[in-house]
Amino acid sequence: MNQAIVLAGGKSTRMKSATTKVMHNLIDQPVLQYIFDELMPLGLNQIVLVVNEENKQQLQTKFGETCTYCVQPAQLGTANAVYAAKEELENKKGQTLILMGDCPMFGADVFAQLLEKNKTADLTMLTAFANPPNSYGKLVRNAKLQPEKIVEEQFASPSQKNITEVNAGVYCVQNEILWQFLPYVNSERCGYRFTDMVELLVKSGKRVQTVALQNQEFVGINTRLELVSAQKNLTEKINKKHLENGVTIFNPSSVVIGSHVVMESDVTIYPNNVILGTSHIKSGTQVLPNCFLLNATVGENCVVESSKLENSSIGNHCQVGPFANIKQNTLVGDHCRLGAFVEVKNSQLGNQVKAAHLTYLGDATIEDEVNIGCGVVTVNYDGGTKNLTFIGHNSFIGSNVNLVAPITVGSHCVVAAGSTITQNVESGDMAIARNYQTNKPGYGKTYLDRVKSKKAKPATIIGEDSEELTKESKEPMEEKETPKPQP
Ligand code: UD1
Ligand code: MG
Repeated sequence: MNQAIVLAGGKSTRMKSATTKVMHNLIDQPVLQYIFDELMPLGLNQIVLVVNEENKQQLQTKFGETCTYCVQPAQLGTANAVYAAKEELENKKGQTLILMGDCPMFGADVFAQLLEKNKTADLTMLTAFANPPNSYGKLVRNAKLQPEKIVEEQFASPSQKNITEVNAGVYCVQNEILWQFLPYVNSERCGYRFTDMVELLVKSGKRVQTVALQNQEFVGINTRLELVSAQKNLTEKINKKHLENGVTIFNPSSVVIGSHVVMESDVTIYPNNVILGTSHIKSGTQVLPNCFLLNATVGENCVVESSKLENSSIGNHCQVGPFANIKQNTLVGDHCRLGAFVEVKNSQLGNQVKAAHLTYLGDATIEDEVNIGCGVVTVNYDGGTKNLTFIGHNSFIGSNVNLVAPITVGSHCVVAAGSTITQNVESGDMAIARNYQTNKPGYGKTYLDRVKSKKAKPATIIGEDSEELTKESKEPMEEKETPKPQP
C-alpha cells in the first residue's frame, strides 16, 4: 500500500498574506484542494499533510478527515517538513509520494505514472521544462544524462542557472529508503532541503530516475504573480476542454470557469462570464455577457444575461436578466421569465411564471402560470422573522403590489395594482387594497398654466403668494366618476 506526504508547513512569506498560500483560491478552490482531488483516485492508504502551528487550525477546518495532520515545529526546509511525518509513516510498506502543497496542477495520471515507474527504482522525481527556469531547482545530469543532483537557484553556477529542466516538486520514494536516508538530509551539517535526497541516493548507488512532464506549463505558487500565472494556465486548460466538448466560448481569455463546472454541447458563453463551483449549464443555453454563476443549474435553451445566479436552479427555456439576482436555493420551473432587476431568494417557482421587471420574491412558493407585475414585493421580513408567501397557479399580481407575509393568495386570483395585501386571498377572488382616486375636471391645465406664468418664482406656488391656488385646492373636490378597480 502506498501513501502521500503533502508539504504545507512553510510560512508563505513570498505571498505576503495573512492566509497561508495553499489556502489561496485558484479560480474557485483553495490551491491544496486540487492536490487532494487528484490524490483521491489513487486509493492511497494514507495522506499526511505537514502543517505549521499557525495554519494547522485553518487547514484542519477546511480539509477535516481528508488527511492526517503532522506539525512541523520550525520551518527548517522541505526535508525537515517531510521528517515531521516520520512517526506517522516510517513503519509503512510500499511507496510514498512527496508533494509540494503549492504545486496544484498535476493530474492523478501523473501521480499514477510516478508510482508505476518507481516500482523498479528507489526514487523517481517529476521534472518540467521551464524557460526561463525562474527560481526552480535545476536538475543536473551527468555525462550519461542520468540524474545527478538538484541545484537550487541560489547555489547554482551561471551555467547551471540556464538549465531548463527543473524540479517540479513531486517525488515517489520507496518508503523504507525514505526513512533510512532522510536523517542524513535533515541535519544541520547537510541542510534541510529534500532536493538533496537526489544526490545522496545517487552517491549511495540507489536507483534514481525522472519522469518529465509533457505538454504542460508548470508553476509553483509562491507569489501572487505565480498564483495569477497558475490561474491563467488552468483557465486555458478548462476552457479548451469545454471547447473540445462542443461549447462555444467567445473570447475565452475573458471567461473564467471552475474545474467542476459541467457544460453540455451547444452551450454558448459570451465574453466576461464567471461560472464557478458545481454549476451545470444544459444544452442550447446562451450565457450572454457579464454573468456570475456559482453552483447554478441552468436548463436547456435558456438565455441568461448580465445576472447573478447562486446556489439555485433554473428550468428549461427560461429567460433571466438583465440584472437579475437569483439566490439561496431558488428553484425555477420551465418557460419562466425573470427580467430586469428581479431578485428571487429561497423561493420555488413553477412553470411559466413571469416576473419581468423590478420585483423581489423572497421565501415564496409560486405555482404555474403566475404573472407578477412590475414592482411587486414579497414583504417577507418583519424585523425578526422571515415569513412565507404562497401564490396559487394562474394568479395575476398587478404592478406595485406588496404582499405582506405570511400570506396566501389562492389560484386564479387577481391582486389589483398598487395594493398592499395583508389578508389571505381565496382562490378565484380579486383583492384590491388602495385609496380611491379623485379627478378634478380641467384643474390640471389650470394648475400648469399658473405654474408656467409664475415660472420666475416657482417656489411661491404653495407659499403665501399663491393664495388663490391654495384656496382653490382647499375647495371640496368634485368627483368625476367613481373609479373601478383595475388590476
Ligand atoms: C521547492 C524546491 C524546488 C522546486 C520547487 C517547485 C526545495 C528546497 N526546493 O522550492 O527545487 O523547483 O519547490 O515548486 O525543496 N515547506 C514546509 N516546510 C518548510 C519549507 C517548505 O512545509 O520548512 C512547504 C511549503 O509550505 C511548500 C513546499 O514545502 O508548500 C515547498 O516549499 P517552498 O518554500 O515553496 O519551496 P520552493 O522555493 O518553491
Ligand atoms: Mg514553492
